[in-house]
Amino acid sequence: MPSILFVFTSVDKHLKGGQTGWYLPEAAHPYYVLAPHFQIDFAAPNGPNPPVDEGSVKNFSGDKESVDFLNDEAVKTKLKTAKILSEVDHKNYDAVFYVGGHGPVIDLPTDPVNIKLASDFYNSGKITSAVCHGPAALVGATTTDGKSIFAGKRVAGFSNTEEEQNGSVDHVPFLLEDRIVALGGNYLKADAWQPKVVVDGHLITGQNPASARPLAEELLKVFNKSK
Ligand SMILES: *[C@@H]1O[C@H](CO)[C@@H](O)[C@H](O)[C@H]1NC(C)=O
Ligand SMILES: *[C@@H]1O[C@H](CO)[C@@H](O)[C@H](O)[C@H]1NC(C)=O
Repeated sequence: MPSILFVFTSVDKHLKGGQTGWYLPEAAHPYYVLAPHFQIDFAAPNGPNPPVDEGSVKNFSGDKESVDFLNDEAVKTKLKTAKILSEVDHKNYDAVFYVGGHGPVIDLPTDPVNIKLASDFYNSGKITSAVCHGPAALVGATTTDGKSIFAGKRVAGFSNTEEEQNGSVDHVPFLLEDRIVALGGNYLKADAWQPKVVVDGHLITGQNPASARPLAEELLKVFNKSK
């Protein structure tokens, strides 16, 4: 069975001190699309028990897959035993997926271990995917000639409008849309909160929580085509 690494944040507070972490449906929805097809491992900078954004648990308390995810024994074990990012070897995986949330904008963009890992996945031609604020984890990743992996590529990610409407512009160190543009990415978006998934070669990005499931479906298509 092919394998995919889900990377989570280890940060549980945003820049204004409120609780944050990874965004529940952005892990749950892709997980249940991919679990029948991939061995899925979890990792985070600090390893075990990456913090979930409690707001996302509340907001998605009516969403079956989000609720299932939190009660799923296999998932609970994966979260409890999440690998420490520095102990992960990209060679053991066929693809990587970055779960969103406000946490990943804080720790992953500047974490040298993550930057190297993301670059290694990308440069070995493996599917490199991220949803919502997940692409923030890729802003430091570079190609073998030192350019941003976003340069000249079509990329989606949480929009400035969405950050403004969510009232969280000052919770994060940078606005993802602005950063993607600054890195030379061809940033594409749908209307706020509408699903948007962009595939450019083996780089697959999605805009917001609603894009998490369609992103996983696209990932599966791209992976199957590449076999
Ligand atoms: C929960 O939903 C409300 C209303 O849609 C939104 O304002 C709030 O930002 C959401 N909370 C989180 C943590 O996403
Ligand atoms: C909206 O902001 C809250 C508070 O910072 C955060 O927990 C939540 O993840 C944000 N929503 C999204 C979709 O990122």
